[in-house]
Amino acid sequence: MGLYATQIFPRLMDWVMSGDEFQQLRKLLLQDARGEVLEVGLGTGLNLPHYGGDVSWLHAVDPAPLLPNRVAQRSKSVAFPVQIKPISAETLPFDDRTFDCVVSTWTLCTIPDPVKALREVRRVLTHDGIFLFLEHGRSDDAKIAAWQDRMNPLQRIIGCGCNLNRKIDQLIEQAGLAITKLDRFQMQQVPRLGGEMYRGSARPAPL
Ligand SMILES: C[S@@+](CC[C@H](N)C(=O)[O-])C[C@H]1O[C@@H](n2cnc3c(N)ncnc32)[C@H](O)[C@@H]1O
Repeated sequence: MGLYATQIFPRLMDWVMSGDEFQQLRKLLLQDARGEVLEVGLGTGLNLPHYGGDVSWLHAVDPAPLLPNRVAQRSKSVAFPVQIKPISAETLPFDDRTFDCVVSTWTLCTIPDPVKALREVRRVLTHDGIFLFLEHGRSDDAKIAAWQDRMNPLQRIIGCGCNLNRKIDQLIEQAGLAITKLDRFQMQQVPRLGGEMYRGSARPAPL
């Protein structure tokens, strides 16, 4: 990985994604996190301050060690143990039905094989476990979606693998998770191409 991916992009991402609107959305989603939690794509740990008192343990995976000092600092400020593994979500080293809750925020856009990762999410969730997601993705407006397709190759370079045009709800259902709640909305402070949001929850669908 070059200087842009290891030094510049993580700082830029941390700055942009710690803005007020991002913080409010993180807080709202994470109030439902509980028990033994797995976060996929921890990034720079921006979700850490927003987990509530119902979390007993946080495990997190991310193949890229982004700003490890900031992650360590943010991990210290929480009341529960945090264990981070530098691995990809597509192959999780956890037993079946380990977690009460799995969290993904702004990560399904970047994981190279999101359906494989989501099948892993399904596998490691307990039967009544919950998957909480907050993701940007493909617009339902055909004109915007066409622009997302056009701009995607450039976005993948600037955003270190981030895609603008993934249909997040379809990916989740393709992986055997049943969506129990889905909000679609547009972020106010993010340009439309990257601000079309999918927020909600899903549970393992019966096989
Ligand atoms: C835009 S960042 C979001 C970070 C964080 N989730 C947040 O909300 O601030 C996308 C993250 O996905 C991570 N990522 C990329 N490929 C991944 C994979 N295969 N498995 C897990 N995480 C991955 C990246 O390293 C990066 O931290």
